[in-house]
Amino acid sequence: MIEELLQNKKHDEARQGEAYAPFALDPNNYKRRFYIESYGCQMNFSDSEIVASILQGEGFGATRNFEDADLILLNTCSIREKAEQTVRKRLTEFRKLKQSRPAMLVGVLGCMAERLKSKFLEEEKLVDLVVGPDAYRTLPGLIAEADGGQKSINVLLSREETYADISPVRLNSNGITAFVSIMRGCNNMCAFCVVPFTRGRERSRDVKSIMAECQDLYDAGYKEVTLLGQNVDSYYYVGEDNKPVTFAALLERVALISPGLRVRFSTSHPKDITDDVLHTMAEYENICKYIHLPLQSGSSRVLQMMNRNYSREWYMAKVDRIREIMPDCGISSDIIAGFCTETEDEHKETVSLMEYAKYDMSYMFFYSERPGTLAQRRYQDDVPEDVKKRRLVEIVETQNRLSLQSNKDDLGKTFKVLIEATSKRSETDWMGRSSQNKVIVFPKEKYDLKPGDYVNVKVNDCTQATLLGEIVQVF
Ligand code: 5AD
Ligand code: SF4
Repeated sequence: MIEELLQNKKHDEARQGEAYAPFALDPNNYKRRFYIESYGCQMNFSDSEIVASILQGEGFGATRNFEDADLILLNTCSIREKAEQTVRKRLTEFRKLKQSRPAMLVGVLGCMAERLKSKFLEEEKLVDLVVGPDAYRTLPGLIAEADGGQKSINVLLSREETYADISPVRLNSNGITAFVSIMRGCNNMCAFCVVPFTRGRERSRDVKSIMAECQDLYDAGYKEVTLLGQNVDSYYYVGEDNKPVTFAALLERVALISPGLRVRFSTSHPKDITDDVLHTMAEYENICKYIHLPLQSGSSRVLQMMNRNYSREWYMAKVDRIREIMPDCGISSDIIAGFCTETEDEHKETVSLMEYAKYDMSYMFFYSERPGTLAQRRYQDDVPEDVKKRRLVEIVETQNRLSLQSNKDDLGKTFKVLIEATSKRSETDWMGRSSQNKVIVFPKEKYDLKPGDYVNVKVNDCTQATLLGEIVQVF
């Protein structure tokens, strides 16, 4: 039962190894072919699009079939141990293929690169090149070295690199929604988190290049951009005019590109999200009313150990403030069960805070100790695995109840929906999202619509994960 619930991976944001090849990189037009798989967070998927752009410049086309590739790349994630194990397995499979195709190169990109460089290259001889998240510009040189038979590596982190001038090649795109990276790295040092070590110091991308990328997407027919950063609220860029641009100001600028372009963002830190951001969201209809506001724990003592810099009460006040300024705002969360020294009562505080916040959705994990983090150096990972798992099940069950209730509360309401695609379950239904980021499925009916169109949909029914409705207005 526990395993079954934990297997039901609604609660894990880490998409697993999606491979993709955009039409624009048709392999027939290029000298060599690359295959790329991405793991982990949206930032990694976004980085893969920068890598694709760099490789395109080097005469590489993309393939969806790794057996046809001259270069196989895995863009890896280190956030939990399981993500690392998955990548390791995959590399072993590729090594087998390499025995019959010695000229083929295998590379590891992203967050595992720094952590495991020597292991991959020397001890296990699994890969030919290892490239960290700030070193993608050096890929062409590294590939040339690897072609010459050398193991090549660059895992240097940078204080400046934002890839601002590189125009990402959209991979696996629906042509409607896209991610735009606005900053890199993180200075927060949450005790459990490996990201500050794998991705380095925080830096904000030039506002001009962000605006240009969003405008280009809109001109190409995209209808939604998600501004991405580990901690978007600390976006801060001082341009040539010496005027600082905050995250609230950036949001407003992007929203002003067109009322027809939806704007989303992720991730917010509860200690940093400002009233300015909330008011800007409320002011513009096209800024989606949805905030991903990771809680991590509902206990003030555990939050302090986690180095989150807010208390239970502070978080509750933030939720109140969001609801005061935007009564219809969707809120989701990340939660960790069984962090070091967490007691049963503290776990219950997490559950009760989830109920207070009435999350629409959460990503839920049990604590996984990561080498080099503050928690690994300072604390004992002392909550037994079976207790962690049981607490996680309670958290998942709580969220399932909250999600169903949140969807039931929407019955009878009408939402403006951006159509993204035909429903996976039925050719005769559309799938889209509300401003609150809820998935809505509804019959196509007689209307002549296409992905990218907006419609008003009235909700008639729901499951825990999806709203079901009917079109009541076409724009
Ligand atoms: N163990 C479990 N979950 C973690 N996260 C980050 N580090 C760990 C860890 N060591 C979760 C946090 C974060 C999300 C992206 O992953 O909840 O917000
Ligand atoms: Fe990790 Fe905390 Fe930074 Fe998020 S804010 S990336 S959890 S250190």
